[in-house]
Amino acid sequence: MNYSLLITILAILLAVWYAWRYYKLRRNINHFAAQARAKNTSTNIKELENLSSSVSSILSAFNLQLSTSDAERARLATVLDQITDGVLIADAQGLIQFANPAAGRLFQTSTPLHHSITEVIRHHQLVEAWRRCQKTRELQTESVEVPSRHQYLQLIVIPDRHASGSLLLVQDLTRVRRLETVRRDFVSNLSHELRTPLASLKALTETLQDGALDDPPAARRFIDQIQIETDALTQMATELLELSRIESGRLSLDLKPVSAFELLNSASERMQLQAERAGLSLRVECADDLPKVNIDSQRLEQVLVNLIHNAVKFTKPGGEVILEAETGNREVRFAVRDTGVGIPADDVPRIFERFYRVDKSRAGSGTGLGLSIAKHIVEAHQGKIWAESVEGRGSAFFFSIPTV
Ligand SMILES: Nc1ncnc2c1ncn2[C@@H]1O[C@H](COP(=O)(O)OP(=O)(O)OP(=O)(O)O)[C@@H](O)[C@H]1O
Ligand SMILES: [Mg+2]
Repeated sequence: MNYSLLITILAILLAVWYAWRYYKLRRNINHFAAQARAKNTSTNIKELENLSSSVSSILSAFNLQLSTSDAERARLATVLDQITDGVLIADAQGLIQFANPAAGRLFQTSTPLHHSITEVIRHHQLVEAWRRCQKTRELQTESVEVPSRHQYLQLIVIPDRHASGSLLLVQDLTRVRRLETVRRDFVSNLSHELRTPLASLKALTETLQDGALDDPPAARRFIDQIQIETDALTQMATELLELSRIESGRLSLDLKPVSAFELLNSASERMQLQAERAGLSLRVECADDLPKVNIDSQRLEQVLVNLIHNAVKFTKPGGEVILEAETGNREVRFAVRDTGVGIPADDVPRIFERFYRVDKSRAGSGTGLGLSIAKHIVEAHQGKIWAESVEGRGSAFFFSIPTV
């Protein structure tokens, strides 16, 4: 064998050996890479699965919270829309950031938003309360009467803990105040009404004891006077009892279909003599084919008698009293009109209160209970009663009774 052939064979063997080594190395690397890839992927998928399940549970918890807070927000919005108390939220500068509808109504402004407290509240004492709260960061309360708006308002200003603004709550105490006044007036009027006849009874009996008994004609006069006073007291007691029975809802109505024409005629007959004695003409102006109303005729006749009695008392001789009835929208409307002294406009809203009399020195005034009794009887029939009057010209009293 020659020398060059040997070298060629050796070179081929060396190349084959290197090729084999290279092939083995590549195979190992591929295997290792495949193994590593397989291992890594499974780890990632698991982690991803964990991550995705926590994300979705956070998401569902968030959705739940969102819908709960949406429901709460809707509930709160309904409450704020419906409550009769006004709610305002103002920022540190006093600009209104939120106002519920009641606040707008109470302060009689349609757009309180983004206006200043001063512009909306328009009452220096209430604005002062807000200023005090801003300064001291303490709750402030203020009650004021607003005569121009016929209101009695209470304002509570609460500092906002999280911001430098404040929350303002406004309550309308007009009705409560009015009821308090009516109750106070009632007690003082009642004691006054009782004191007058009791004092004259005491004076009359003392005079009799002091010797008037020995003077029969004078004694007779005093005893007649005693009778008048006790009658007045009895009448007052009866009316008060009647009122309290009606007010406590213990009035039982004996409802029957009655024609308005008959009711007016029956009341007119009862009062005819009194009207004639007072020099007045009393007449009925009513169609006889009006629909019947379901009423307690005795009680409603009492209402008419009370109204006619007033008309007769407060109309000068020569005047007239007219009784009317007409059908309206699902109701029959009754009216008692007179050509009497009339009632001042300021007194008209108050005459249905117990013991209210326009001018106590007016001739013919009674105890001031007649109209309150009438009002309660009409309201027990689901009806309404009201008055219109022009001072010096006359008055008209109306009441309506539903026909259905
Ligand atoms: N027709 C009328 N014209 C003018 N004033 C009236 C008329 N009706 C009522 N008033 C006024 O309203 C007040 C209240 O009336 P109301 O019938 O309640 O009491 P009264 O007549 O004074 O007493 P009572 O009816 O208890 O005997 C009266 O005192 C009177 O001042
Ligand atoms: Mg009366």
